[in-house]
Amino acid sequence: MEKEIETPLKKGATNAPRIVLTGTTGRLGSRILTSILEKKLISPSDLIISSSNPKNVPGIAKENGVEVRYGDFANPRSLHSAFEGASAVFIMSHPDAGIQRVQFHKNAIETARTLGIKTIIYSSMMLGGETGMESVIGIQQGHLQTMKYLLSSGLEHIIIRQGIYAQAWTPYAGIRSTGDPMEWVIPNDGAIAWTDLDELGEGNALILADYRKYINQTLRLTGPRATAISTIAQIIERKLGRKVNLYFTGNHARDGWGRIYEGLANGEGKVVDPLLAQLLGRPAKGIEEVLTGSSTE
Ligand SMILES: NC(=O)c1ccc[n+]([C@@H]2O[C@H](COP(=O)([O-])OP(=O)(O)OC[C@H]3O[C@@H](n4cnc5c(N)ncnc54)[C@H](OP(=O)(O)O)[C@@H]3O)[C@@H](O)[C@H]2O)c1
Repeated sequence: MEKEIETPLKKGATNAPRIVLTGTTGRLGSRILTSILEKKLISPSDLIISSSNPKNVPGIAKENGVEVRYGDFANPRSLHSAFEGASAVFIMSHPDAGIQRVQFHKNAIETARTLGIKTIIYSSMMLGGETGMESVIGIQQGHLQTMKYLLSSGLEHIIIRQGIYAQAWTPYAGIRSTGDPMEWVIPNDGAIAWTDLDELGEGNALILADYRKYINQTLRLTGPRATAISTIAQIIERKLGRKVNLYFTGNHARDGWGRIYEGLANGEGKVVDPLLAQLLGRPAKGIEEVLTGSSTE
């Protein structure tokens, strides 16, 4: 009888359900990684970290024996060796505020396609209203173009739209003076569904652990309510015991930050979605809970 010849599986063409994580040195990505490992949501051997700065990857990766590889979105060859052997790639959007990052994201998507990787999970943002696809805001344009590219790529995709970080509210408040009274000057009082960064990390980790459930879906992770800057001003007044004088210029022409306030006036940041609370199994925090340290539980 003829002996069956064993052909070694071509590298990168295995069926192992390994997920590549990018962006793990950053604010959100580090929280996702930590949540996955601390809660044991995915086995460390099923993770590959691709980083343009491997020495900055959080220590918890090494402690758990996660494989770390060098991968730079600007260098497709490095992505090829970083993504090899994975079934899915989680692309944390590059922090560039312009549209240069679209090419970086395309590099990652096309590298995955070349390697036969089936699924792309793209981390987008909760600007652009209900769908994220209609936006006047500069920083949303790179997400919008990447999402369009991914949706027409023919690859399996999951888009996770990340809520605006509650911990990063200050640039939105137009703080001119921090004395007493404080002076905040902004074009209008647009509302945002502020989202707790730690909870975003946890929510993403839970999605990644069960990602096949969400194939070809766009998921929206937000806090429980949209809160205007005027409400934040009241919370800060109580918290610091100082007055906030808040002025609305009504002038979008001098917006100065990629038409963000014009977009917020159009309601681009105010969409609330229950998914994060459902994933967490508890009420999600809004900016009120984050700033006052209280809990809605
Ligand atoms: N939802 C929000 O409120 C909000 C707020 C701010 C930003 N964002 C957006 O969400 C994304 C992540 O935010 P973040 O706060 O975690 O940002 P961050 O702390 O600046 O982290 C950015 C990540 O980008 C990765 N990166 C940088 N250059 C890279 C390259 N050449 N190739 C591959 N990866 C590269 C880095 O990973 P490595 O070092 O491992 O390569 C880093 O971990 C960004 O696109 C950011 O614009 C969202």
